[in-house]
Amino acid sequence: MTAEAAGAPSLSSAAPGVRSPSATDPWWSRPGLDVCEGRLAIAGHDAESLARKHGTPLFVYDRRRFAENAERLAAALGRAGVRHRLRFALKANPDPLALEILRPLVGIDACSPGEVTRAMECGWAAAEISVTATNLSDRDLDAILAHDVHLNLDAVSQVDRLGRRLAALGRPARPVGLRINPGAGAGYNDKLAYSGVRPTKFGIYADRLDAALATAAGHGLAVDTIHVHAGSGWLADGLAAFEASLEPVVAIARRLIADGQPIAEVNVGGGLGVPARADEPPIDLDAYAAAIARQIGDLDVAVGCEPGDYLAKDTAILLAEVVTVEERDGTTFVGLDAGWNVNCSYFIYKYAQELVVCRAAAAERTERVTVAGHINEAGDLFAEDYTLPPVVEGDVVALLNAGGYHQAMSSTHCLRPHAEALFLDR
Ligand SMILES: Cc1ncc(COP(=O)(O)O)c(C=O)c1O
Repeated sequence: MTAEAAGAPSLSSAAPGVRSPSATDPWWSRPGLDVCEGRLAIAGHDAESLARKHGTPLFVYDRRRFAENAERLAAALGRAGVRHRLRFALKANPDPLALEILRPLVGIDACSPGEVTRAMECGWAAAEISVTATNLSDRDLDAILAHDVHLNLDAVSQVDRLGRRLAALGRPARPVGLRINPGAGAGYNDKLAYSGVRPTKFGIYADRLDAALATAAGHGLAVDTIHVHAGSGWLADGLAAFEASLEPVVAIARRLIADGQPIAEVNVGGGLGVPARADEPPIDLDAYAAAIARQIGDLDVAVGCEPGDYLAKDTAILLAEVVTVEERDGTTFVGLDAGWNVNCSYFIYKYAQELVVCRAAAAERTERVTVAGHINEAGDLFAEDYTLPPVVEGDVVALLNAGGYHQAMSSTHCLRPHAEALFLDR
């Protein structure tokens, strides 16, 4: 559901059976993920016991957290007076059990025909789905155009291809959005900046905007949305870069409105990150909402906002068993029965999740180790030169912030199976 100008959220600080964190708890603890008598608990359940019962590797989700994250973000946008349409980037977690929780709270950002189908199967109406994809084929477009979803197009060639497909299918022209590449980006690191100084594959650059508009006009397609996704995973110190990426985009929206285009939405993408470690600065949502309000100014448009990770990342942990503790050439390697095939964020993005020993969740970290997985690649690591409490083979550890993208991006590389997933309600 699209929520415009949502009011104050109904956030319960702690659900029944779930303790509120105290000042001495670790930085990551929160209602639903905390330390209970020294042991890690998720959604009121002892994490190690879940691992022993269900086997490892095992994703364990605290389902209520999806809703809390969406409500917190909507409330901040509401407080700043931003008329918004909040959509979940479904790619971050397409599991129907996750989507069920988000269904009453948000619309959907989809990036493929499969995601459109999944969203509709899970109860979203076509009007609540916005598609921003890349390199869409004719087959993709035909499948997407079977539904009355809105499309943001990210290349001049895509505008032309859409116009041709609509004509070929005998369908009327429809308003479209244009994904802009502002040449400025933000991201957790440069692997996650989707626009910036170096050219990326996403979006229409300023020098091609007139070509995109002429192509749209040639097919009778009006432009009703201007879209940007600056990058992913940025934190408080990336807010200024995020805001800088909006400036040229809003200027384009202003120009198009002056030219008579029916611009109804400026979509600011997703990208809000979640800290991986204690020293990473969390985003101040009020500052985020204020930056958007400042840039939008007096423009009479809705603001599309399509986070994936911010709604999903801290909803889950991945539990794994320690199967090897061994020193190699001065480095202590802690080997787990999980690999990058089920938890790829360090392997692909160098996002280094915090690891917690489940039986000693708040214990002093005295050992310097490298934590590795069970895939036959040297890069299959979760943490390097990292401090943990002492661990022994047979211990269960939790990788935090495992709820966004990991399950969705899992593979059976080395014929290691997907991890099971457990969705818990507090
Ligand atoms: C167009 C678009 N919107 C939203 C997202 C969601 O990003 P995030 O999970 O970083 O919020 C992405 C991620 O790739 C994207 O490409």
